[in-house]
Amino acid sequence: MIKKLRKAVLPVAGLGTRFLPATKATAKEMLPVVDKPLIQYAVEEARAAGIEQFCMVTGRGKTALVEHFDVAYELEATLRERDKQDALASLSGAQSEPGSITTVRQQVPLGLGHAIWCARAFIGDDPFAILLPDDLVLADKPCLAQLADAYYQTGGNIVAVTEVPPEQTNRYGILKIGKDDGRLVEVIGLVEKPDPKDAPSNLSIIGRYILMPEVIKYLALMERGAGNEVQLTDAMARLIGEQPFHGLRYDGRRFDCGDKIGFLEAQIAFALKRPELSGAVREFLKKYI
Ligand code: UTP
Repeated sequence: MIKKLRKAVLPVAGLGTRFLPATKATAKEMLPVVDKPLIQYAVEEARAAGIEQFCMVTGRGKTALVEHFDVAYELEATLRERDKQDALASLSGAQSEPGSITTVRQQVPLGLGHAIWCARAFIGDDPFAILLPDDLVLADKPCLAQLADAYYQTGGNIVAVTEVPPEQTNRYGILKIGKDDGRLVEVIGLVEKPDPKDAPSNLSIIGRYILMPEVIKYLALMERGAGNEVQLTDAMARLIGEQPFHGLRYDGRRFDCGDKIGFLEAQIAFALKRPELSGAVREFLKKYI
């Protein structure tokens, strides 16, 4: 029987060094694309896939991420007094069901795998999603909902994948592929950040996963991988052969918002999707190109 997917882990304890100095006193995941912080895009995408319980893996200087989903009594009262209905309505996505968000602390950022292991009590015996908020996906049907649909067909582990230029495999987790129907691929191996000459394919994992709880026992081994970090990819690789493992070529466009160029491109792409902004954005872009 395939268990219902209700839980999501949001690892947000990274240092965000590529975005210094912006991330000196603020979390990278609070950076906005247009007018919404990255963390809120992730939470809204997760809700659209049926997620009810969230666990943020936080670190020092990340409290704003939790505050963002709290009730802002004073702000809301002031907006109501001033009859600012649009501004009030814009806060609705930043509200959460009481008790639906828990946090755990990753005291030292030892890697994504270590961050997920920190959420082990929250995960328990249930399947869970992982969303990396700095990977933003523009899609008609939200990416995690596409992944959840596939999960209810295949069961087991499933990751969202996309083709990357062959010379960039050393930046990503890369799949070794078995059967491939053009959309769903069977994963027969996983390597974190392989050198282009050793890469088994150019199909890379993006920051959307649905994993079985058994991955925790492999993370608990605390083996260091690429970059001397505890890599999630290495623990996932151990599940291959024990449990179904698939990759899904999702429909949509991914923006790596942990990177300056990806972040800037996301601003433009998301603004162009907003009817009230797209005309003006098109106009000013003409001045630069
Ligand atoms: P990144 O590889 O983007 O690292 O992490 P980073 O520290 O956030 O950013 P840079 O590379 O220094 O600029 C991918 C995701 O994993 C989380 C990050 O918060 C991000 O969501 N992460 C990473 C942790 O939660 N803990 C870690 O130890 C490492």
